[in-house]
Amino acid sequence: MKVLITAGPTREALDPMRYISNRSSGKMGYALAEAAVKAGHETVLVSGPCSLTPPEGLAKFVGVISAAEMAEAVKAEFQTADAAVMCAAVADYRPKQFSTSKIKKNDETLILELERTEDILASLGSMKKPGQLLIGFAAETDDMEKNALGKLQRKNLDWIAANRLDLPGQGAESNTNTVVLYSVKGEQITIPLASKRDVAEAILNVTGVNKPCKGNSII
Ligand code: CTP
Repeated sequence: MKVLITAGPTREALDPMRYISNRSSGKMGYALAEAAVKAGHETVLVSGPCSLTPPEGLAKFVGVISAAEMAEAVKAEFQTADAAVMCAAVADYRPKQFSTSKIKKNDETLILELERTEDILASLGSMKKPGQLLIGFAAETDDMEKNALGKLQRKNLDWIAANRLDLPGQGAESNTNTVVLYSVKGEQITIPLASKRDVAEAILNVTGVNKPCKGNSII
């Protein structure tokens, strides 16, 4: 199977020195890419800027900076993908204006005007063809189940992996994670706290990216 994975944050430039971004480390996405390679998939990793080394054995690595660059790369790769797992923490807003000169401070309050970026996962949801498997993430501090199920429906996903940002041992910079997987068919499966590598493998198994086979335990 051709499996497309996204990872890391995006950076939305304000001037040549400054950008808006988030705390995503890329660890969960890179663990998913590693697990997909290990399972024998033709794995394409599209990654925002992070300090990790791409796993060996990828079919392709595409490094991007902004949400717009990520959208272009991901939509091109999705055309021929059998499954996509969108783990990247894509910035939802970017500065409306990019200043080619460094913005100088003064004594006034600085007000930034931000505009929406493309919701890449929602775009994939509307491009999705029968047989393509689309999996998203939902990182939440409040009402995790309700928000995750809303994203699952709105973005036309097959599965969503939800995790809490406000609990120890999970989320952006941690080496461990725990997620609840919700499917469009109404399944709900909890992957207990484990290394991001083990959680990644479980996500690929449960969602059917890795076809279950004899002797292969599902979690
Ligand atoms: N996502 C995306 N493009 C965006 C924002 C998010 O593709 N511009 C994807 C993420 O990769 C993730 C999923 O959408 O798989 C959910 O991201 P999240 O940040 O949790 O939610 P949002 O859609 O941004 O919704 P909200 O702001 O309401 O939390």
